Amino acid sequence: MKKQWWHEKVAYQIYPKSFMDSNGDGIGDIQGIISKLDYLEKLGIDILWISPVFQSPMVDNGYDISDYYAIDPMFGTMDDMDQLITEAKKKNISILMDLVVNHCSSEHPWFQEAMKNPEGPYGEFFYIKDGKDGKAPTNWRSYFGGSVWEKLPGHDNKFYLHSFAKEQPDLNWENPLVREKIYEMICWWLEKGLGGFRIDAIMNIKKDLTWENLPADGPDGMADVYKVSQRVSGIEKFLMEMKERCFDPYDAFSIGEAMFLKEDNIKNFIGENGYFSSIFAFEPCHAYRKGKNYKEYVWPQPFKEWREETFHNQKIIGNTGFEANIIENHDQPRGASLFIPEEDYGFHSISALATILMCQRGLPFLYQGQEIGMCNRRWKLSEFDDLETMSQYQVAVEAGYSSNQALEICRHHSRDNARTPMQWNDKEYAGFTAGIPWLPVNENYKEINVEKQEVQYGSVLNFYRRLIAFRKSEKYKEILTYGDFKPLYQEEESIFAYTRELEEKKLVLICNFSGQPAEITLTEDYENVIFVNYQQTTMIGKKLQMKPYEVVVLE
Ligand code: GLC
Ligand code: CA
Repeated sequence: MKKQWWHEKVAYQIYPKSFMDSNGDGIGDIQGIISKLDYLEKLGIDILWISPVFQSPMVDNGYDISDYYAIDPMFGTMDDMDQLITEAKKKNISILMDLVVNHCSSEHPWFQEAMKNPEGPYGEFFYIKDGKDGKAPTNWRSYFGGSVWEKLPGHDNKFYLHSFAKEQPDLNWENPLVREKIYEMICWWLEKGLGGFRIDAIMNIKKDLTWENLPADGPDGMADVYKVSQRVSGIEKFLMEMKERCFDPYDAFSIGEAMFLKEDNIKNFIGENGYFSSIFAFEPCHAYRKGKNYKEYVWPQPFKEWREETFHNQKIIGNTGFEANIIENHDQPRGASLFIPEEDYGFHSISALATILMCQRGLPFLYQGQEIGMCNRRWKLSEFDDLETMSQYQVAVEAGYSSNQALEICRHHSRDNARTPMQWNDKEYAGFTAGIPWLPVNENYKEINVEKQEVQYGSVLNFYRRLIAFRKSEKYKEILTYGDFKPLYQEEESIFAYTRELEEKKLVLICNFSGQPAEITLTEDYENVIFVNYQQTTMIGKKLQMKPYEVVVLE
């Protein structure tokens, strides 16, 4: 495999609204990020993905862009952005911005023009179609609930398509002019010295141009719009073009939000000449949902399903490329809450989860606050901000749940769990802002915060630092990056174990992911214990006696 500059890196995602507020308006901003670059450097981060900071009406927190060439004043100025890129570069940190090009904002001038004159050139920038007898052209359901079709204001029988909120009209990728505009914009940003992009919702850019109804999958008579993208072919033309025109010339790192990939497509996406450098491994995080509908979701994530999905993913990717391994992001509940039963939450369980993640094959991708073990918050209904959560609540109530049950479901699943302000210290509002934060801080900030963990050798934060340093150490980085992955001890109830192998070298990770002790009879000899989360490892002959949530890496 040809080596790439990003192969041995560790990445970190920032949700700018909630990371650090520099001017006391309660909203995180670019200067806030700059002020924490030392912190990120010390953690060992090389690649920083910043969720959208472009000009936006913020219906979906910046995933609705009204000007791709402007920074939203809420986050700062273009000078701030340039400064961030420059300062980060001094620390060998590459910045990724969020490329949201499946849709823009309904306030983008393109859409404003399209509304005025749908027959004109900007009408062709979107999918505008006549209704069927006054009704929506198809029965597709948007990701945030309700039809993907909305009446075009001021026009009787015209509808425009939006896969997400109605304020996020989908761009028409079939139109070569739209693609030109997008590529031009990507290159403009890369010229500034970005490391690359995370590419939002990209599997949705190819539509089914036959505009057929799909078999209904709910009482509303509609069908989820993601099924459309699964049915159609032809997306590869767009993705290849974008790669060749934009990413290749800049040797940029590109990571796609691509889900539901068929096995035989992996090579096309992240192989040597794939459309993207990498894609996120969502399947292990979504194991609790697999094959189930909303009502049957299990909480927390069932161990066996998670392990199985991880092994399956590792197997089908093999040495084809690198997926990015995550336990959480801004669209998910907190990983510590999802993967660990509440009564077991603590240093050992969190550090075990971290080690399992970080030693797999693939690019480790952290989300802000993960490194201190931030977890879900106990919400009141009125405190939620996210529009998807509102629709989750509605769906649950309509499915016959009581309001309390529906609230409980949202408490587990809401994206707002990941979006509470970063917990920097035990002062008011966790040191995130001198004003009033836009979203409530998690009440546990006095216990869980950066400042407190800084000074404790045995904190989650310092553990993450050692773990990242281990992953990037001269001695082990080759094997941890390129080594083959093989599952181990799969017949054991609560053991998550695998090997990494490169030429003559072999590492074995064994984790007892449960609150009960466990004993494992080793099948092979080992030379060294090289990484642990307990001070002592108990080995009697070939028997490894494991404490709750103990993890060991052997050589
Ligand atoms: C992606 C983003 C999510 C956003 C959606 C629409 O899934 O991660 O936050 O709401 O796309 O842009
Ligand atoms: Ca601010």
